[in-house]
Formats: sequence, structure tokens, C-alpha cells
Amino acid sequence: MIEQGGRIIWIGPDKELAKVLKTRFSKKTKSTDINLKKQLVLPAFIECHTHAMFAGSRADEFELRNQGVSYLEIAARGGGILSTMKKTRLSSKAQLQTVTQKFINEFQRQGVATVEIKTGYALDLKNEVKMLEAMKALSKKNSVMIIPTYLGPHALPPEFKNHKDYLDYILESVLPVLKKRGLTKRADIFIEQKFFSAQDGEAYLLKAKDLGFDLTIHANQLSQSGGAELAQKIGAKSADHVIELSDQAIKGFGRSATIPVLLPAADLYMKCPYPKARKLIDAGAEVALATDFNPGSCPTQDLMLVGLLARLEMKMTLPEVFRAYTLNASRALGLEHEQGQLLDGQKAQFIVTESALTDFFYSAGKVPTHQLYLNGKKMNKTLNTGI
Ligand code: NIG
Ligand code: FE
Repeated sequence: MIEQGGRIIWIGPDKELAKVLKTRFSKKTKSTDINLKKQLVLPAFIECHTHAMFAGSRADEFELRNQGVSYLEIAARGGGILSTMKKTRLSSKAQLQTVTQKFINEFQRQGVATVEIKTGYALDLKNEVKMLEAMKALSKKNSVMIIPTYLGPHALPPEFKNHKDYLDYILESVLPVLKKRGLTKRADIFIEQKFFSAQDGEAYLLKAKDLGFDLTIHANQLSQSGGAELAQKIGAKSADHVIELSDQAIKGFGRSATIPVLLPAADLYMKCPYPKARKLIDAGAEVALATDFNPGSCPTQDLMLVGLLARLEMKMTLPEVFRAYTLNASRALGLEHEQGQLLDGQKAQFIVTESALTDFFYSAGKVPTHQLYLNGKKMNKTLNTGI
């Protein structure tokens, strides 16, 4: 492999290397030869769905859920997303950066090159902007690429009486500001009973699309909410969770470019059924996998657990899991032109390991020993993950 300026410019068999170097590069070109000793080289992972910026913990709710109180009941009592919102609104930009830096470090430790992070724990303009600015600051400091996504329609904030009024506020006073300030290019919404309806969601998503945002939807997690069909209809980049799907919606994913993003670690914590990955893949869909890391429905950042559940519970093969965590995750983020594969022109983000492919997504919590390269550079292995 030859890398220049952080991109792969040639990749091929050893025996062609000498000829390529002679024909394509002058003698004056400075180069470094890194001997990888016949190790396995894989594209770095892409984590395409997280809520990795929040204040506080909701460990107490986990105990309540295990005693039989449902996620929706906890939310109705003012817990859930709104309890994280209260703490996140009170946090400074610097505090949020400190917390999220550790989360980024933990993803990097596992061989992740790109992390999507959603807002949605502040809900009002001032504090959602604070979250996005904290992400921007983190982007500048990290080799891991951070993809910020606006998730204002995550829950109804207490200052609004109903979902309709809140969405009107978002359409008029938030989306145009985010567009103008260029703080994010992606818009998400939680379409679910007692949260936002598909009908309300459509107006929001169409407005965001009109402003040039890429779209993604939290869809069909707890019920057939219409979110998956809407995602396909309006050309969203992804529809995430997608557990409660009709056969028609499954077939629809086979025909559409919308990527179903499956989040089985959240399903484990939520005691939800696992998504029908096999049916989706057999229908022709390109499924992605992600953690959904957040303080409520999925407090783990463990990529190996996600892939393990996909193999154990969702009948996905190991190559399908790798594809879901690399190429298809990049598609969910609209980054497939530059990430997710070891090809000329792609960013040089890869992991090198002496382990076998079958050692991955095998042992929960344990990523096989490897070296991560980002933008062609070897990454430091000692990171403060806060663990
Ligand atoms: O993807 N479903 C909505 N949002 C998150 C949970 C957020 C939270 O509980 O704090 C999810 O599961
Ligand atoms: Fe989520």
C-alpha cells in the first residue's frame, strides 16, 4: 500500500510494488517503508450511530427497568432523555468536551476511525449549538473523524406544550441557524409512539432536506411507526433501529439506497427483539451496525459485543459483520467515496493485526490486539478512556 497526504494512492501485491514505485514516482519522492510482516490489514471501523455527548448517568434507571418499569413509563415520569437533558443544559462546553473526549478515546482504542455523534440532549437552540460547538472543538483535536448530527426532535422539552409547537420552533428558529453556521450537515428525528409521529416528522425532514441536510431517522424501534417507510420515501441516508418492520418495509430496504442501521446492543439493554438482519440482507439491503452508545438505552461502547450479537442472534455471517461496520457504515454517513474500504483514493484508515479474522466479534469486550492507522499515521495506543 502506498499512502500520500492521508489517502491510499496505490494498493496491490508486493511483486508489483517495485514497478509502481519506478513508473509513478520520481527518485526524489520521500518515502517511508513500513514493514507489516504479512499481518492482516483491515479497514478501520466506522461507528455511525452514537449519542456520545451527554452529562450525568442513568444507571439508576437501568435498575428500575430491570424491576419492570418500562422505558416509556420512565420517560413519562420525567426521567429518560429529559433527565439527561437537564444535566446537559447545565454543563459547559468544556465539560461536555472532557466527557466526550474519553468516549472518543475508547472508540479509537477499539480501532474506530470515524464516530457519528448526535445532539438531542439539549433540545433548545442555545444548548444544541453548545453541543455542536463542543463537537467542532473535538474535531480539531482528534485524528478520529467526528460527524455531528442534529437530533433536536429527540423528545419534547418542557418549555413546549406539544410536539407540533416544538417542531414549528425547530423549522423556523433552529434549522436555518444551523444551516447558516455550518455546524452540522445531518438531521435526525426519533419517530415513535409518544415521541414524534411520522406525519410530523415528514415536515421536519423535508425542510431539512430543502436546506441541504442529509437525513436519518430513529425508526421502528418499539412499534411500526412509519419511520422506516418514510426514510425510504424521502431518501434518508439511513433508518436506524428498524426492529418492527413489515415484510413490505423489508423489501423496500432491498430496493432503496437507505441503509438500515442495526443496533443490537441497545436491543439487549432494552430487551427488544433483535432486528431481522437475515431477511433484510436476503432482500438485498446493505445493513450497517453501530453501538447506539447513550446513557439510557445503551450504556456500552463495545463494538465487539455489537458484532457478537449480530452473529449470535441475527444470523449474520462474519464477513457481513465486517462489511456492516466498515463499508455500509460509511454509506449510512454518506462517506463511501472516501471511507470504509482499502482502495485507491480512500482515506488511509486501517488496522493491522497478527490475529485472524475469526478472532474479531468473538469475545465481548475484547478487540484483538492491533495497530490503528489514521490518515496514514500510526496512532498512539495509550489513551485516557476514563475506564
Ligand atoms: O437511540 N431512541 C431514542 N434515542 C436513543 C436513546 C436515548 C436515551 O435514552 O437517552 C436510542 O435508543
Ligand atoms: Fe440512537
